[in-house]
Amino acid sequence: MRYDTIDNQLFIDTRKELTKHLKPNSIVVIHSNDVYPTNADAELTLKQYADLLYFSGADQEESILILFPDAENKRNREILFVRETNKQIAIWEGEKLTKKKASEVSGIKRIEWTKNFDKIFKNIVFEADNIYLSNNEHCRANTPVETRNDRFIKKCKKEYPLMNYERLSQITNRLRDIKHPIEINLMQKACDITEKGFRRVLKFVKPGVGEWEIEAEFIHEFTKNKSKGFAYTPIIGSGSNACVLHYITNNCIVKDGDIILMDVAAEYANWNSDMTRSIPANGKFTQRQKDVYNAVLRTMRFADSILRPGTYPAEYQNQVKAFIEKELINLGLIDPDEAKQQSASKPLVSKYFMHGTSHQIGLTVHDVSDPKAPFREGQVLTIEPGIYIPEENLGIRLENNYIIGKKRNIDLMANIPIEVDEIESLMANTI
Ligand code: GLY
Ligand code: MN
Ligand code: MN
Repeated sequence: MRYDTIDNQLFIDTRKELTKHLKPNSIVVIHSNDVYPTNADAELTLKQYADLLYFSGADQEESILILFPDAENKRNREILFVRETNKQIAIWEGEKLTKKKASEVSGIKRIEWTKNFDKIFKNIVFEADNIYLSNNEHCRANTPVETRNDRFIKKCKKEYPLMNYERLSQITNRLRDIKHPIEINLMQKACDITEKGFRRVLKFVKPGVGEWEIEAEFIHEFTKNKSKGFAYTPIIGSGSNACVLHYITNNCIVKDGDIILMDVAAEYANWNSDMTRSIPANGKFTQRQKDVYNAVLRTMRFADSILRPGTYPAEYQNQVKAFIEKELINLGLIDPDEAKQQSASKPLVSKYFMHGTSHQIGLTVHDVSDPKAPFREGQVLTIEPGIYIPEENLGIRLENNYIIGKKRNIDLMANIPIEVDEIESLMANTI
């Protein structure tokens, strides 16, 4: 098997935790994502709805989860619906979840075929007082198309207008923010696969290679190591391309003297990692590149020291900005006298560092959270400061993934080379 079987204790535990936060006598319904059409008879591969994966592990289209912890009849407390498979599907699409397999994956005893959902739901819904429905409530979500969950919200409200409706995401965004030990293991695995890709690339890069060839080296190593692929569209930006924050065309030739910014990472079993490294095309940093690189690295370490339980995200971002401002003054990029008179709404630092320092990561790369709540033990966040200087054709970002721990954070990417000397030695093949 490509992936080791995920211990279904993860899904048993997440369901148990959810139950503690529901109003009494509530029913929860979560649908899978659609398989999106492209052109002619083609479609994209399924990217499962994260909440459904989180509570069931069902990574298959047309799956539905019902949770009704207070149901009178025990059989109605947890039901997972999966698409009925048949010989025809087996010939064209291969193996699908059988009822037995779906039960093993999820730890749910009662498995039904999706085609029977409406009938079964109608039979039990009036016994409940509240229906929790799921909707993507990420603050930057952009969903111009209607999802299966959106369609179900409409249909359900039409068919059962007098029920009390609740927002499941209000609960799940906070639950998913704290990672289960089994999730941490999966994310560590994703980080370890990312490390393999990066080490391969360090041996491959030289002036004259295409950015796309570097991308190919990563995906080769990721797939070989059982990842389904990139956790997100990779950014391989050399020279001035490194200053384009969402550069994804990766179609330029790497030149001697360039720094190559690589924001590339692997997924594993649907859990994600998110890494950025910035390396010299010819294997040696110039003094200036080294100075900027080390300023970013010091900022990363400073951020690690203050990304602690109890710190508020806005306060954290301000402190990182204040730190990087000093680095920018030392690099001669900000005039210290101007810095004294800058306006709070347009800080000088945002000319060279214009994005956030950290985000949650997990089943989605920019994972759900409560953005106003202070950081908590057990969250996993990135730390990714950068300095971008288009006038010098130089952009440097560094990014690792950390578990917020009680006494200190745990760096899931601690083994991935980051020091200037180590990068240079590995590129020279001397270690
Ligand atoms: N790779 C996306 C990000 O760093 O947020
Ligand atoms: Mn990131
Ligand atoms: Mn990234």
